[in-house]
Amino acid sequence: MGSPIVWPAEAVWEQVSPLLPGFTVEVLPEIDSTNTELMRRARAGRMEPVLLVAERQSAGRGRLGRGWVSGDHDSLTFSLGLPLAPVSWSGLSLVAGVSLAESLHPRIQLKWPNDLWLDDRKLAGILIETASFGEGREASRYAVVGVGINIAARDAAGLSTVPAWLQEVLPGMQAGEVLLRVAAPLVQAVQAFEAYGFAPFQARFNARDALRDRAVVLSDGTAGTAHGTGESGALLVHTAAGMHAVTSSEVSVRPGTP
Ligand code: BTN
Repeated sequence: MGSPIVWPAEAVWEQVSPLLPGFTVEVLPEIDSTNTELMRRARAGRMEPVLLVAERQSAGRGRLGRGWVSGDHDSLTFSLGLPLAPVSWSGLSLVAGVSLAESLHPRIQLKWPNDLWLDDRKLAGILIETASFGEGREASRYAVVGVGINIAARDAAGLSTVPAWLQEVLPGMQAGEVLLRVAAPLVQAVQAFEAYGFAPFQARFNARDALRDRAVVLSDGTAGTAHGTGESGALLVHTAAGMHAVTSSEVSVRPGTP
């Protein structure tokens, strides 16, 4: 256990509250999962905009039913919850990834659909969940954007792949500083997505696309070459049967042998 983390909660609030009226920042020493907590609150009718940070998660969750494990003080784990009404939801996780990568470091790449990579190792992951509220014309949705970023070197024992950590490119950077760097740009990016969709982010994603022009294999066995994303955020994969647009968030993709 290292020294206590200093959280710039007030500075984050000052930057974000002009963008999101009613916004609050909460830092908890421990919870099962920040995403689970905001989804619980949403289901109980609490839909206010909030940034929930946890110093420790006892049941952190990742995509595709996987877990998200982080050790004491070696990562930043938070969820941003806010009411959101985009025309289409496709591409939101890519937009969050673009924003985080751009806020952090030019060397950070994006691995479709929502991982941040450094030198082909996973640096951070994003888990987006939504809850509905209201009915008919009044119906609206609450979005929870969960983010886990490895900050310091960690024990890779038991992990299927060796992770990357932010201090490799930003030595000395602590979780609180990282939060302050990413929070307001992330809110702005999510709001831009709500207004304009994924299209304005397409070139920015493709500029950091870790899979571009590489051989890839999808979890359904399809093999091909990745060619960036389309206008709505689908991954374009050139296969023996032609160009294939991968849209399902249930599909995972990994670099393969050409
Ligand atoms: C993934 O890589 O599959 C997504 C990982 C997302 C982890 C973050 S940590 C904060 C938030 N709370 C969770 O339980 N998960 C997300």
